[in-house]
Amino acid sequence: MNIAQFLFVASLLLPLHASAAEHQNPNGGDTIVFTTLGRSHYEFDIFALSTTHPPSISRELQITDGESVNFNGYFPSPSPTLISLLPDETLTQLEDSSPLHLIYVTERNGTSSIYYDLVYGGGGDSDFKRKRRSVLESPSRIQVPLLSIANHHRSGTKVNSFKDKPSLSGEFLVYVSTHENSGEPRTSWTAVYSTELRTGLTRRLTPSGIADFSPAVSPSGNWTAVASYGERGWTGEVEELSTDIYVFSTLDGTHRVKVVEHGGWPCWVDDSTLYFHRRSDDGWISVYRATLPENKLLTTESVKIRRVTPPGVHAFTPATSPNNHDFIAVATRRPGSDYRHVELFDLKSNEFIELTRLVAPESHHLNPFISPDASRVGYHSCRGQANGRRRSPLLLLENIQTTTTDLSLFRIDGSFPSFSPKGDRIAYVKMPGVYVVNPDGSGRREVYKGMAFSTAWDPVRPRRVYTSSGPTFATERTEVDIISIDVDDAADDTSSSSVRRLTTNGKNNAFPWPSPDGKLIVFRSGRTGHKNLYLMDAEKGETSGLWRLTEGAWTDTMCSWSPDGEWIAFASDRESPGSGSFELFLIHPNGTGLRKLIQSGSGGRTNHPIFSPDSKSIVFTSDYAGISAEPISNPHHYQPYGDIFTVKLDGSNLRRLTHNSYEDGTPVWAPRFISPNDVVLRMKNDSSCSFDDCHWLNKNPTTTVLKGREISC
Ligand SMILES: *[C@@H]1O[C@H](CO)[C@@H](O)[C@H](O)[C@H]1NC(C)=O
Ligand SMILES: *[C@@H]1O[C@H](CO)[C@@H](O)[C@H](O)[C@H]1NC(C)=O
Ligand SMILES: *[C@@H]1O[C@H](CO)[C@@H](O)[C@H](O)[C@H]1NC(C)=O
Ligand SMILES: *[C@@H]1O[C@H](CO)[C@@H](O)[C@H](O)[C@H]1NC(C)=O
Repeated sequence: MNIAQFLFVASLLLPLHASAAEHQNPNGGDTIVFTTLGRSHYEFDIFALSTTHPPSISRELQITDGESVNFNGYFPSPSPTLISLLPDETLTQLEDSSPLHLIYVTERNGTSSIYYDLVYGGGGDSDFKRKRRSVLESPSRIQVPLLSIANHHRSGTKVNSFKDKPSLSGEFLVYVSTHENSGEPRTSWTAVYSTELRTGLTRRLTPSGIADFSPAVSPSGNWTAVASYGERGWTGEVEELSTDIYVFSTLDGTHRVKVVEHGGWPCWVDDSTLYFHRRSDDGWISVYRATLPENKLLTTESVKIRRVTPPGVHAFTPATSPNNHDFIAVATRRPGSDYRHVELFDLKSNEFIELTRLVAPESHHLNPFISPDASRVGYHSCRGQANGRRRSPLLLLENIQTTTTDLSLFRIDGSFPSFSPKGDRIAYVKMPGVYVVNPDGSGRREVYKGMAFSTAWDPVRPRRVYTSSGPTFATERTEVDIISIDVDDAADDTSSSSVRRLTTNGKNNAFPWPSPDGKLIVFRSGRTGHKNLYLMDAEKGETSGLWRLTEGAWTDTMCSWSPDGEWIAFASDRESPGSGSFELFLIHPNGTGLRKLIQSGSGGRTNHPIFSPDSKSIVFTSDYAGISAEPISNPHHYQPYGDIFTVKLDGSNLRRLTHNSYEDGTPVWAPRFISPNDVVLRMKNDSSCSFDDCHWLNKNPTTTVLKGREISC
């Protein structure tokens, strides 16, 4: 039996007045474009393998629909409340077959939502096992957004960031969101919430001032375990978080107790047994078991902890199924392999049982989860181009849905975007090279070949773009020079005539930004051995003289000029030179009026300030909101804390625009409104699945290497 595909956009949950009108401003409004590093090159879907049959590619099920990015899945025990969300006419299907129920995070239209999919195979469970991946490309599917930006009015979550794994506990969806400002710079906004599916009633379970990650609900639903900073807060870690495991009542967050010192990614087997990961003293990341006391007061001391996975393999992000004491699932990184794979770990024989390496050895497989009956292991992996999967477009501008009505927000396929004065062209960097393109994606051309970073469009000469030619993140003595490019001359010849060199001393001159009258350029230079700010003539460059704007044994950098000419904004580590901590400052172009705009918090990084067209606000990137998920649960990101914010020049009205665990940076404010729709560059030839796994997993402590055994039929 083949039932037509049925996409159900949950009118059950959505008040439909949260419609397009709210997201489109006919009178214009603001547009911000920024860069996300390392986001666009993986398109995750959720797959599953059987735990009882030898793994093979024909037995790998693709469960999610191949749209956008689908990850962090969870197989719920379907509760009456969950079933009640399905449209009446489909309920008979529940009897006819044994469908798959999946709850997962999906990033559609640039923001993450939590969806519930019911997927039919057509003839019961065994059918799923027989089906090939290709056949399941058009499964019968009912799709219910449980929490999304469209229904944020109902759930009370103003902006969504659901990077972490969701769980269902009867009536309640338990998940992580980052929509509430922690109130302190550089403190994670990550907190656990529960939403009652029937009513949308949402409750915060994490105490204020605390960050909780990776929630897991116990089989009875009574308890939720999280990885948490407790009172300590984030100290800038981007590899392993120094979290502890806490347990609290799922109902209301009360009875909160620290059960494990140093651990993350908890999961329950029964209401008194938890698995989690931590780095062992021998250097291997391993899975541990915590046994909570049955009839004693729950304290950290009363919990028994045992190491489960042996040295020789990094094993992490464990998964369990209720009351299954036979095996768990883990992700592993084995010595000699560059790939992360999902394996079972037999708790009786203490052996690994390899799964995904036997199916797709050269892909990463992340964050396993097990079905309630323990027959399937799910995980997410890049869907690739196999089996005639539909090609996805390469977007020049990917619209990011926001709940802010007067703003359109875009991720650009490149970095350091800047707009021409009229807003009719964009310059940006796509290493190595500088490009210009029209905002509708047409007319894309390379205008400079070679390493360059930062772009700024001349405000009075419509053909001229400034950039810094040379390597990024280099020392004061590295050769980097300010150049201007005539982007129309560059049409035929990107080599010589169109490029003018404005500095020549090779002492790391970068981040040029012209004054609004086009006469001067502010830039940073390492010419004295420290990076400070200077002004020079926009035509003649440094040969006609330099005016020094800032001076000190520290780094001032990433400068931009306000459109009204009054201010230059820049990032500086002057309060703690060399510490890596950057804050934002303002100074008048005549060198007076220096003041701090953003306090980053100790060790904090706030960078790339750019003014709004009305000169009243600044957009920038910052670690102000800390980190949003356990880094090991994601691909590698150098600066996973980078998010885009705006603030008024008087320091008021701080707004967070992005909520994810990617590195978001180099924002720019467009001079005119761009309506919030994706701009396609072309169809992608292949969806490249190459991305880096967390770099620290490449390091292997020296101990014996373990081999996995295979499932035998
Ligand atoms: C994404 O945006 C497009 C265009 O605005 C819209 O048609 C579509 O329904 C959106 N998708 C989701 C899942 O919200
Ligand atoms: C969960 O809580 C309910 C209500 O308090 C209680 O009856 C039940 O025994 C609890 N279950 C477990 C496994 O603790
Ligand atoms: C410096 O520039 C600011 C802003 O334009 C102006 O208010 C101030 O009077 C100037 N100061 C001097 C000494 O020129
Ligand atoms: C995509 O494929 C077409 C034809 O196969 C080829 O001409 C084109 O250069 C490819 N584009 C990219 C970006 O690889």
